[in-house]
Amino acid sequence: MKTKIFCDSADYETIKFFNNKSIVDGFTTNPSLMRISGAKNYKDYSFKILKICKKKPISFEVFADDQKQMLKQAYKISTWAKNVYVKIPVVNSKGKFMGPVIKELSTKGIKLNITAIYSFEQVERVFKCLDKKTKSIISIFAGRMADGGIDPLPIFKKSIALVKKNKNIEILWASTREAYNFIQAKQLGCNIITVPAKIINQVYNFGANTKELTLGTVKGFLNDSKKSKFKI
Ligand code: G3P
Repeated sequence: MKTKIFCDSADYETIKFFNNKSIVDGFTTNPSLMRISGAKNYKDYSFKILKICKKKPISFEVFADDQKQMLKQAYKISTWAKNVYVKIPVVNSKGKFMGPVIKELSTKGIKLNITAIYSFEQVERVFKCLDKKTKSIISIFAGRMADGGIDPLPIFKKSIALVKKNKNIEILWASTREAYNFIQAKQLGCNIITVPAKIINQVYNFGANTKELTLGTVKGFLNDSKKSKFKI
């Protein structure tokens, strides 16, 4: 099974670059990435991206915090282009489960990417709300989980087993921290991993040789010692 690589970025030039590269099958954005990329007008900026990214799937997230507004934003975003997935957080900022929003949109055939998932219980609840005929992505935040001392692998294993028979539902490894996460996601059978640009380049250049790694490391230390004119 192929684990697709998505690029986790809202940067215009990055999306433009990877849109033409076969290593990348799609893109994921979020409001923080949009902010980092300098987006001032959410819709205009998204349209600028959609002018270059016309085929590969791309996720744009809602940022409303109540269900009514969230639905309103989701319906609008869903009309922007055929390749758009609407990203919905599993809960709002008050911790309220967004199940009704997910259910309504998914039943209407709107492609969703359910985000900010940190537990198997959340995956189960989301899975129940999704229309199995509609394409959907469930994004589990591996890196942030690991940063907090939680092993993300068991949650992935259970989630992948749960959705396995549903070809329209994909499990996505989000919050990638290092290139090796791609190998982990592949071994698990994740459908997608979303990766920051710098790490995509590392994955592209996989095939490290341990001898070369040692030499590169030692040379780096030596060079820095010379540059700093260290003496003992
Ligand atoms: O786009 C969602 C996710 O991949 C964010 O990752 O690096 O902010 O934890 P990060």
